[in-house]
This record gives sequence, structure tokens and C-alpha cells, in this order.
Amino acid sequence: PPLSSLINCDDFEEVARNTLAKKTWAFYSSAATDCYTYERNRSFFSRIWFRPRILRDVRKIDTQTTILGHKVGVPFMVHPAALVKLVHPDGEKGIARGLSKENVPYCVSSNASYPIDEVVSSVPKGQPFFFQLYVNKDRKQSEALLKKVRQAGCTAVFVTVDAPVPGKREADERVSADASTNAPMTGAQAVNDKKGGGLGRIMGSYIDSSLSWDDLQWLRKSWDGKIVLKGIQSAEDAKMAAEAGVDGIVLSNHGGRSLDTSPPSVMMLLECQRRCPEIFDRLEVYVDGGIRRGTDILKCLCLGAKAVGLGRPFLYSVNYGAEGVDHMVDSKSNSFLNPDRHDTDKHQQSSKMSLKQV
Ligand code: FNR
Repeated sequence: PPLSSLINCDDFEEVARNTLAKKTWAFYSSAATDCYTYERNRSFFSRIWFRPRILRDVRKIDTQTTILGHKVGVPFMVHPAALVKLVHPDGEKGIARGLSKENVPYCVSSNASYPIDEVVSSVPKGQPFFFQLYVNKDRKQSEALLKKVRQAGCTAVFVTVDAPVPGKREADERVSADASTNAPMTGAQAVNDKKGGGLGRIMGSYIDSSLSWDDLQWLRKSWDGKIVLKGIQSAEDAKMAAEAGVDGIVLSNHGGRSLDTSPPSVMMLLECQRRCPEIFDRLEVYVDGGIRRGTDILKCLCLGAKAVGLGRPFLYSVNYGAEGVDHMVDSKSNSFLNPDRHDTDKHQQSSKMSLKQV
């Protein structure tokens, strides 16, 4: 279908389901075991209701905020996903280019199809980039990578802490792997064995499953930028992160791909508000998992999140290349959604559109 006919994230997902190679769809869409967490990430949003207030002047809506010190037009960012080239030859570069109009931050995966310096330099300077780090068993390799990441211009690392071992993603296991797919960090080839053909399993053989809170000291020595822990799933750990002095946390369960029956991410946000409200003044709290609508984003902001992240929707939108990403973020072409957009400040208007569109 033409891009102009797509008006929400689900539309992109539907096209992806029908057009992506079977294995790519299985890898991107799959989640761990029974997919309870995956499904609840999304459906739990419908259990939270607004209390709309009326008779307020809403002509001017400002969606600008800051994320880790960067001024951004919208309170969301792209969260890391491996192997974007499976969906489009431009891969991560296509996503980066599609974000440039709205200056949306992009946290690029350790397992990206393109090296970080190539992704960052594929767009004009000034666009915010972060890097997602899986800590390598061989710390020297992580140290060298972090140097490269800094030189490329990333200002923060998001250390993923919810996947010390790969999740069991059965939909991915059931579709045979094609030997042409390699794990970006190790070059390991996809295999079909008695467990199945899961791509997820070959990707993370280098990840150090012994990683603990003490390793934050090592990280601070090896990285002088901001540090975010991605994959916090309890108020206890959110508190420990604040005490450890990190700059931010992502309340996340890896989009349901890691440990099934971890709580839905917005439920974790509610738990933190109730059990450790003080952390919201000490660090930036982000949420990801199942965010597909502007109202999902708004609910997270109302509950104290600084911003949110989206994973799969960007994989599905780059199916149409950079243009698809831009269209999903901010469909300027869909003027019927916002006929009087020329009446107000261009930037604010486009930001307002973005939330509608998402
Ligand atoms: C991911 N995610 C992920 N996270 C991470 O820290 N490093 C990674 O390499 C990946 N890779 C990855 C691949 C694919 C195909 C998916 C779908 C996800 C998790 C991702 O960053 C994010 O936490 C979730 O995708 C958020 O959930 P939604 O928005 O996809 O529902």
C-alpha cells in the first residue's frame, strides 16, 4: 500500500507482516515463550484512564522536552533493535535519516547492521545519538568499542541489563535460519539445531552474564558520557540505580523478548511512583514496551516519565526506507489530519502532529 494510506503504527505493522521475509518477521515480531509480557505491555495502557479537564485553551501545544540534555521536538526516541538491514538495505542509516526533521534521538544497538560511526555520519551533525551497550565478557573489547562510540559523537550509553541470557522466542525458533545472517559483533552464523533456528540466540554469545552493580565502576572509568540502565523492572532496582548515581533508567522488559511474565512496563512506572517517587527528581525515567499511540506516551509523561522509547514500530516503518520513518514520526503529507497547520508555529504544529500520528 502507498505510504500516504498509512496513518498509525499498526498500519506499518500490518504491512510488515504481509511483506517482510518470513524469517525477518519472525525475528522482529517474536517475544519470549507465551508472550504474556509482550501482549500486556500494550494492553495494560487501556487500563489507565485519563481525567480530562475542560475549558482550557489548547490552541498551542508544546511537545518539546529535553532528553539527556538534548533539546528535542517530541518526548520519544528510537530504542535499539538489532539487524535493521534485514528489513531495508539502508538499515540503521535509513532510520537515522527519517528522524532528522524532528531531531528524534536514536539509541543504536550493539548488534546494529552498520557500525556506529557510519550511522551517525549518515546525517548532518547535531542529531542526538546514544549507544546501547551489551557488556562483552572481554572487557577490552567493550573499552575499544566505547572509544569508537564516543568518537562517533554519542553522548550516552544505555547498558542493557534485562538480557543476561537470551529469551526463548518460539516464533523465531520455529522458522529456519538462513546461513547468510551473521551476528554483527562476533560474525557468528545463524544455525538450525535442536532448539530451532532462532536468530536471537546467535546474537549475544559475547554478552557477560556475570555483570553486576559493581561493574558500574568499570563503566565509569571507560566512559565519560552519560549512563542509562535499560531494563529496570522493579522499584528496588530503580532505587539502587538512583543511589548508584546513573543519569537515567529505562523501565523495560525488552519488549517482552527476555523474561516472560515480567510486569508490563507502564505497571512498573506505577510501581515506581508509589514506592520510590523520590527517584524521579534524581534521574530521568524512560519507559518502553508496547507504546504505539500518542495517548500511551502522554500517560507515561503524566506518570512522571521524562520520555518514552519505541522499538518495533521503527523496524516496521523503515520497511519504506527513511521516508517511511519520517511519515510515521510526522506525516506532513496527511494534511487532512490537521487542515489548519499553517496557522501556528511550524515546529509546534509538526510536534503535535507527531503525537497524533503515533
Ligand atoms: C530489540 N530490543 C533490543 N534491546 C537492546 O537493548 N538491544 C538490542 O540489540 C535489541 N534488539 C532488539 C531487536 C528487536 C527485533 C526488537 C523488537 C527489540 C528491545 C528494544 O530496545 C525495546 O526495549 C523494545 O523493542 C520495546 O518494545 P516495543 O516498542 O518493540 O514494543
